[in-house]
Amino acid sequence: MVKAGLEDIVAATSTICDVNGKEGRLIYQGYDIHDLAKHSSFEEVVYLLWYGRLPTKTELETISRDLRGNRKLPDEVVSAMRSFPKTANPMDVLRTAVSVLSMYDPEVSDKSREANVRKAIRLTAKLPTIVAYWDRIRNNKELLAPNEDCNLATNFLFLLKGEMPADVEAKSLDLALILHADHELNASTFAARVAAATETDIYSTIVAAIGTLAGPLHGGANQEVIKMLLKIGEPSNVESFIKKMLEEHKKVMGFGHRVYKTEDPRAWHLRQMSEALGKRVGDTKWYEMSRKIEELVLADKGLYANVDFYSASVYYMLGIPIDLFTPIFACSRMAGWAAHVLEQYSNNRLIRPRAEYTGPNNLEYVAVEKR
Ligand code: ACO
Repeated sequence: MVKAGLEDIVAATSTICDVNGKEGRLIYQGYDIHDLAKHSSFEEVVYLLWYGRLPTKTELETISRDLRGNRKLPDEVVSAMRSFPKTANPMDVLRTAVSVLSMYDPEVSDKSREANVRKAIRLTAKLPTIVAYWDRIRNNKELLAPNEDCNLATNFLFLLKGEMPADVEAKSLDLALILHADHELNASTFAARVAAATETDIYSTIVAAIGTLAGPLHGGANQEVIKMLLKIGEPSNVESFIKKMLEEHKKVMGFGHRVYKTEDPRAWHLRQMSEALGKRVGDTKWYEMSRKIEELVLADKGLYANVDFYSASVYYMLGIPIDLFTPIFACSRMAGWAAHVLEQYSNNRLIRPRAEYTGPNNLEYVAVEKR
């Protein structure tokens, strides 16, 4: 019997990430996400995911320096972006810009692990620049040179807003990047691994992953969550709005998960962050509304909030435009995609499953003029 959506099918062995859906645990290379959220940085998590262990101080300095030094985009890529329609969706821009980038990387077809790590560094460093630059290009704003003196999260907010973020803002984004960095065989990572298994180049694998993440059942859900919160408008409207959605069997975005059957451990951190950022700006409305929605959906459907639910209000309170929420997810998941692509390349076999044929048989061919 074929299980729709490959539910519970184990399709690879991997040392990178373990999702324990029953206990609500998430592990990167042996480390619990709660410990990483408390002590680590996005740059350190990148190293951990790619090399399978925490870096020494020197190794962390080296990877951080490499990530800082590769933020600039080739002029040709910026020119290509300037030629895109200003109405283009940022995920489409990101996917296309990564494709264009590949043509300006002289190492694109070098298949050694060393070259692939260098390309992964370039991609991880450049994705945030593409996202921030696109927002400025479409708003006719000047493009700033990347700041090479700060971490990836701080530089992204600087490039986007044109000023250095407050510490708490940069720290919140850094934590969000840690939490989104990997999640086992989620749809976009699986797409990347399928592409990698054909031995195509790493850029092509990331293009496949970005296109897959864009869907509203995957990374696109965070944008739908904030649109819903804005539509609800006030805490007093939550109950009637959500009850109506549930009665009409509509999906409440940001809830449910194929693997987690209890609370998503990432949602716990994002919930705290949403409350803290709300208090900071003196408006906890989005947090309060989110809490109420959580209660209603859990009571009615037994469904818990997933990573996309609270990341929505967090990014909104960081002043990030709504259609950049999913591209930011991509900037973080780039770390996980690269880890899985490197792992796939290192022990590869073409991924080629079968389909159970359920179509007709033995039909007689009828000439076109007789149909
Ligand atoms: N709101 C209301 N009902 C839901 C929701 C939801 N968010 N999610 C699942 N259900 C219900 C379904 O309607 C279905 O009910 P039924 O059996 O009565 O028809 C049942 O729960 C099972 O749902 P499926 O969609 O079959 O579950 P699946 O494992 O295929 O999907 C998914 C998981 C895609 C995450 C789903 O829960 C969903 O669509 N959630 C909303 C979108 C979302 O938040 N996506 C982000 C996921 S996290 C990530 O990708 C980063």
